[in-house]
Amino acid sequence: MPERKLTVFIYLPGETIAVPAGIFTHDNELTLGTFAYGRRYLKRDNCLPVDPVALPLGRPPREVIINGGLYGSFRDAAPDYWGRLVIAAESRTAPEAMSEFDFLLAANATRTGNLDFRLSPEDPEPELVPPGFNQLADIITAAAEIESGKQTSPHLLQLLRQGSSMGGARPKCTVEWQNSLWIAKFTAKGDSINIPRLEYATMTLAGQCGINVPEMHLIQIGRQDVFLIKRFDRVRAQQGWCRYGFQSGLSLMQWDEGERHNWAYPAIAGRLRRFMAAPHIHEFYRRMIFNIMVRNTDDHPRNHGLLVSGDTIILSPAYDIVPSLTRAGVGTDFRLAMSIGDQGREALLVNAISQSEKFGLSKEKAEEIIIDVSKNARKWQEHFAGCKFTEEEIDTLQPSFSMVEKYE
Ligand SMILES: Nc1ncnc2c1ncn2[C@@H]1O[C@H](COP(=O)(O)OP(=O)(O)O)[C@@H](O)[C@H]1O
Ligand SMILES: [Mg+2]
Repeated sequence: MPERKLTVFIYLPGETIAVPAGIFTHDNELTLGTFAYGRRYLKRDNCLPVDPVALPLGRPPREVIINGGLYGSFRDAAPDYWGRLVIAAESRTAPEAMSEFDFLLAANATRTGNLDFRLSPEDPEPELVPPGFNQLADIITAAAEIESGKQTSPHLLQLLRQGSSMGGARPKCTVEWQNSLWIAKFTAKGDSINIPRLEYATMTLAGQCGINVPEMHLIQIGRQDVFLIKRFDRVRAQQGWCRYGFQSGLSLMQWDEGERHNWAYPAIAGRLRRFMAAPHIHEFYRRMIFNIMVRNTDDHPRNHGLLVSGDTIILSPAYDIVPSLTRAGVGTDFRLAMSIGDQGREALLVNAISQSEKFGLSKEKAEEIIIDVSKNARKWQEHFAGCKFTEEEIDTLQPSFSMVEKYE
């Protein structure tokens, strides 16, 4: 296969039309990428890096060999398992027959962040026509058909496709509602518990525990619950949508998705300290503690995000915090997806305190955060009952919350 090239576009702050920033070349093995900024782009007063970590302005760009030859911000702007399934269905091909490069190009204007990828610098602005809220019933039908490998009508598939360029594995679609964009997350085939409701209840509990969360709703479409979470990377403007840059924790650290042994909260905290003030790092610590309290073991570095606006980088609001289910009596020990302290990934509060100084926290301050999170998290049953979980469901969830009582 010959080398392939894409023009990388960026939506600069306050603008609703993207400008070309440079050319991305993917080698013929599709394992190595190189990016070069355009000279015209660099002459702009307001030009910004397309990836503030991997491709800072004023330094000769380095090639990238991790993550299939994609720079972090590019990977964050590409679809994952779910989006790929939808794109492949539309192309009537198997996802395995498409490359990283194909998916990067195929994702549309609902992709995460402020980048866009086109074949040539002259290619026009893609139309952003996210499906509307009132089309959710049709979209859910299409999503279920895709999950079960059934044929979907071209019209429904098109609808779903318009909103399916974000990351993540679960079925979802971006929809427009009340002048904002939302991610609608659906029930997946094989869910043993109502996951949209569980995500809603847990994320709102996170909010009560002092974590910054987006606006969220749980709605019913037919007999299905749908979790709606407002997109934090898009803001309505008169002429369209303004966008924030997005970097996942994985991109911030330039980690490879396959190198799990490197992943560590204290390392991320250390890097964050270069970009942001102490309260943000303390919030990052709070999120780690909350993940322990609710047994969220899917807390990998792509489930932590940063928003980039101009020269400012901040923690994005939290997302995708869901308890993993476990049975009573199986044992309460578990591990998070990233190392948290001296005892690696062990989800123990002593372990969480062991490297608190990397988060800029004394042991006493770290304990204060733990006590504060625990005080609110231990009201989870009441909160979940308020979210209309039955007593039986709350019993099923009990073992996932074994850590909330462990700290006085
Ligand atoms: N509220 C949001 N606004 C903007 N982007 C988001 C938001 N929530 C998640 N994302 C992005 O979309 C991706 C998929 O969302 P996520 O909730 O993690 O789905 P999944 O449960 O399938 O992993 C995330 O990795 C992140 O890049
Ligand atoms: Mg996720």
